[in-house]
Amino acid sequence: MEKMVAFCGIVCTECPAFIATQKETSMTNFIFRMMTTVMKIRGIFRNKKREVLLTGIKEGDIVLDYGCGIGFNTIPAAWIVGEKGKVYALDIHPLAIKTVEMKIRKKGLVNIETILSGLDTGLPDESVDIILLYNVLPIIENQTDLIKELYRVLRSGGVLSVKSGLGVNLYSREKIKTNDLEKLMIDKGPLKLKKKIGKFYIFEKNNEEDKLLKETKKNGL
Ligand SMILES: C[S@@+](CC[C@H](N)C(=O)[O-])C[C@H]1O[C@@H](n2cnc3c(N)ncnc32)[C@H](O)[C@@H]1O
Repeated sequence: MEKMVAFCGIVCTECPAFIATQKETSMTNFIFRMMTTVMKIRGIFRNKKREVLLTGIKEGDIVLDYGCGIGFNTIPAAWIVGEKGKVYALDIHPLAIKTVEMKIRKKGLVNIETILSGLDTGLPDESVDIILLYNVLPIIENQTDLIKELYRVLRSGGVLSVKSGLGVNLYSREKIKTNDLEKLMIDKGPLKLKKKIGKFYIFEKNNEEDKLLKETKKNGL
């Protein structure tokens, strides 16, 4: 269902995917615009390309920018991965997707695919190298299901980069404490914290290590 919107690239209020996402978000256009204004002001002080580079992203990578907003990180990610790679820009809000699509057309980018959706990304298992989860997690009601979904689509050795310290209670719940964040990733992944750079937490999925750990536990070693 989500694919329909992603591939047709048009935000249509009659579309079943649009109606489904509306059940997951209560964010009105007014709130979204207010949030975007705050993000734009904060965006002046952000080095959006560096935020993407922290993940170890490279040419040819497949990236999911979850909760992409107006595409602050989507565009630099698309430049870095180039035409051999791809960026999925996912957001639950139609205005976000509309804005990203406008930027895609304006910049003539061919390697970004928009997805109007919430917790169901519609992407195949283990199909993504890098996931950006920037300034989104505190807004998500069902964080457990989100991490499960992101773990599913991430390939082994893939990276989930999280920035959750929003600090602006205008559009977010409380800031997530480091311990809670790590616990959430370990319990629902498992995803292990590889490094922390400032407010950025870089988690990695390692299937082989996970299997070994489970077997060790099973054998009581
Ligand atoms: C504060 S903005 C962050 C945008 C972008 N990641 C950035 O850092 O510039 C949060 C975005 O998350 C989106 N969002 C909120 N709930 C969501 C959900 N359940 N699934 C996907 N996106 C969601 C909002 O529509 C909004 O565009």
